Amino acid sequence: MEKFVINGGNALRGDITISGAKNAAVAIIPAAILAEGICVLENVPNINDVTVSLKILAAMGAEVRLLNKNTIQIDSRHIKDAVVPYEMARSIRASYYFLGTLLSKFNHAKVSMPGGCALGDRPIDQHLKCFKALGAETVIEHGMVEITAEKLIGTQIYFDKITVGATINAMLAAVKVDGLTILENAAKEPHIVDLANFLNSMGADIMGAGTDVIKIRGVKRLQGTNYSIIPDQIEAGTYMVAAAATGGDVTIKNVIPKHLEPISSKLVKMGVGIEEFDDSVRITGKKPYERMNLKTMPHPGFPTDMQPQFAALLTLSQGTSIITEGIYEERFRYVDELRRMGADISVDGKVAVIEGVAKLTGAPVKAADLRAGAALIIAGLCAKGVTEIEDIYHIERGYEDMALKLRAVGADIQKRRFPAPDALRAAL
Ligand code: EPU
Repeated sequence: MEKFVINGGNALRGDITISGAKNAAVAIIPAAILAEGICVLENVPNINDVTVSLKILAAMGAEVRLLNKNTIQIDSRHIKDAVVPYEMARSIRASYYFLGTLLSKFNHAKVSMPGGCALGDRPIDQHLKCFKALGAETVIEHGMVEITAEKLIGTQIYFDKITVGATINAMLAAVKVDGLTILENAAKEPHIVDLANFLNSMGADIMGAGTDVIKIRGVKRLQGTNYSIIPDQIEAGTYMVAAAATGGDVTIKNVIPKHLEPISSKLVKMGVGIEEFDDSVRITGKKPYERMNLKTMPHPGFPTDMQPQFAALLTLSQGTSIITEGIYEERFRYVDELRRMGADISVDGKVAVIEGVAKLTGAPVKAADLRAGAALIIAGLCAKGVTEIEDIYHIERGYEDMALKLRAVGADIQKRRFPAPDALRAAL
């Protein structure tokens, strides 16, 4: 097993280049199987969730070639199987996008119930609702979701709840159906626009992505394409917070500043210095920071995927801050770990109250999920002494080369195996 060992206290200084967006990549990779030709994807993040998505493609008979670390060629013309291997699908959330794409390609899909971070109840009722509305039958048995249709027909779908996953799955399932599909109360995240742009570059006819009404006119065929995935808004936000929290001065490169607005505006409010350029932002730490309240909401609201990282920053701010989690039931599973480091946080249901403290101290902690892990890294970078973070596989699901990127801007962070091989041998 591996852990991150951080010796805190260094202010981060220099440049960090952001990788491609995880949540766009994990939708675009399954979408590539709809092409009757070869797709070349650039700016693909080298992270575990992407590796699993590519392994699923390969297991179904696609030819996947790594042209370089972040460029992938996918030839899915010979995929025959509409069943995704159980264990692979169960290990990531985004495996549910194979439901939409396989349904579109074969009128049949069989995929296990998805995995992903444990953030409380994560039903897929809205996904199933849209497949049914398009004319499919859905059955859940023995842990598998099976969807079958004789023919899919365009229709109007109103989401009872704003959901990124179901919006994407509806786009994937509807892209080749007969007629017009209208999605209402759709999610508006940047990766939804990126998926629409990708599908349109293959010949799809999708309008309105990025607004709450998306119109999809089904097309007969989609061709191969070359496409570059957008930069990861949450990875960028994480390093923005890390730079601010350590009182550093970091330029975050390869970003779309517009996508960062919900994050930047909160940082500015706390007193962090931010300069925006065409495709980069410079963060200048100006500690101590003001207290702040925030509530997570669907885009363009404040993203839930940045909530734990902001909590880490607010523990070291002046006064009392209140965080309200508006998306998930259980996204405060990092709080106990931050308390080990000296944070003063109390949680009541979906609300956390943070009393700013003068300092954090390093401690052994565990990452409960991906963004919880990112929050612990930020806390560890600020803490006095050594922080050891276990269960870093959560972090590596979604951040490319995190230790490497942080070391390049002056952080003292190492990835270590534990027990160390020598200690293990001695114990045997
Ligand atoms: N929901 C339902 N029914 C559904 C679908 C969703 O009730 O059929 C609920 C969920 O339980 C949740 C809310 O709607 O309370 C929003 O869920 P959404 O579908 O938007 O989330 P998701 O597709 O499961 C994606 C990201 C998450 C990110 C959320 C919200 C991927 C693979 N995952 O999840 O990313 O938090 O959107 O933006 O794209 C992360 O990257 O750390 C992460 C968890």
